[in-house]
Amino acid sequence: MPLVNARDMLTKAKAGHYAVGQFNINNLEWTKAILLTAQELNSPVILGVSEGAGKYMCGYKTVVGMVNGMLEELNITVPVALHLDHGSYEGALKCIEAGFSSVMFDGSHYPIEENVEKTKELVAICNEKGLSLEAEVGSIGGEEDGVIGAGECADPEECKKIADLGVTMLAAGIGNIHGKYPENWQGLSFETLDAVQKLTGAMPLVLHGGTGIPADMIKKAIDLGVSKINVNTECQLAFAEATRKYIEAGKDQQGKGFDPRKLLAPGFEAIKATVKEKMELFGSIDKA
Ligand code: 13P
Repeated sequence: MPLVNARDMLTKAKAGHYAVGQFNINNLEWTKAILLTAQELNSPVILGVSEGAGKYMCGYKTVVGMVNGMLEELNITVPVALHLDHGSYEGALKCIEAGFSSVMFDGSHYPIEENVEKTKELVAICNEKGLSLEAEVGSIGGEEDGVIGAGECADPEECKKIADLGVTMLAAGIGNIHGKYPENWQGLSFETLDAVQKLTGAMPLVLHGGTGIPADMIKKAIDLGVSKINVNTECQLAFAEATRKYIEAGKDQQGKGFDPRKLLAPGFEAIKATVKEKMELFGSIDKA
C-alpha cells in the first residue's frame, strides 16, 4: 500500500483510546525493522525523520525513495505515514515537495503569533496536497539534533489557538523530554494534558519523548487524549547495546561475522523487539 497521511489512523486511535507509534528512522535497517514489525503485528505506524536524520540519509528524496521501495518490495499493507519530525518551515516545504505524507512544523520557539502565522500557511498547503500536519506548542525538553528545549508545559489557550487553525495533530509540552529522563524528573503534567484536551476536543494529541516514560504514565496519557507517541532514543539504545554485545563476544572475528549483514543483525532484531513492546503498550496491534 502506498504511503498515507496520518489523519485517519489518528482519528481512529483517538476514538478507540489507543496511540499510534512514531518511530524515528536513521537508515535502511531501522526502516525495514519498523515496517516489518508493523506488518507482523497488523499495526498502523508513522516513520519519523528529523532534519538531521534526513541529511544523514542523503536528503528527503532518498528517504522517500527508500521507504516507497520497501513498502512495495516487502508487501507492506498496513497504513504507513512518512513524517517530518520537528521540521522548520523550510524543511516542511522540502518534505512536501519530496513526497512525504505528513509533516511537523515545530514553531514552539517562535512567539505564539508567529507560530500561528506560519502554521496557518502550512495548513493551507498540506490541505491542498493531502498531507497531515503536526504543530507544537510549548517546547519539548532535552536535545534532539541540536534543537534544545527546556521541557515547558504548554498554555492550553495557545494550544486551542493552534488547534483551531485546522492542524491534524498537536504536540503540547507537558513536561516531557527527548532522550533519557533525568533522575529528578517530575513526571508528566496530567493537569496540563487534561486542560489541553478539554479545550481541543477531538484533536489527536502527540506525546514526544516516548523513551523511558513509565507504562502507567503512558496509559494515563492515552486516556487523556494522546493518540500519537514518538519514540527515538529507545531504539538507538537497543541497537547500540545489541551491537556492542556482538562485538564484545568477538563474533565479528569469527568466520564471516564482519559482514555488515551479520554485524547489524542483532541491532536490527533489537529494534524490532523495542517497536513490538511499544506497540503492545500503546494498544495499536491489530488496528491497521
Ligand atoms: P525520544 O528520543 O525521547 O524517544 O523522543 C522521540 C521524539 O519525541 C521524536 O520527536
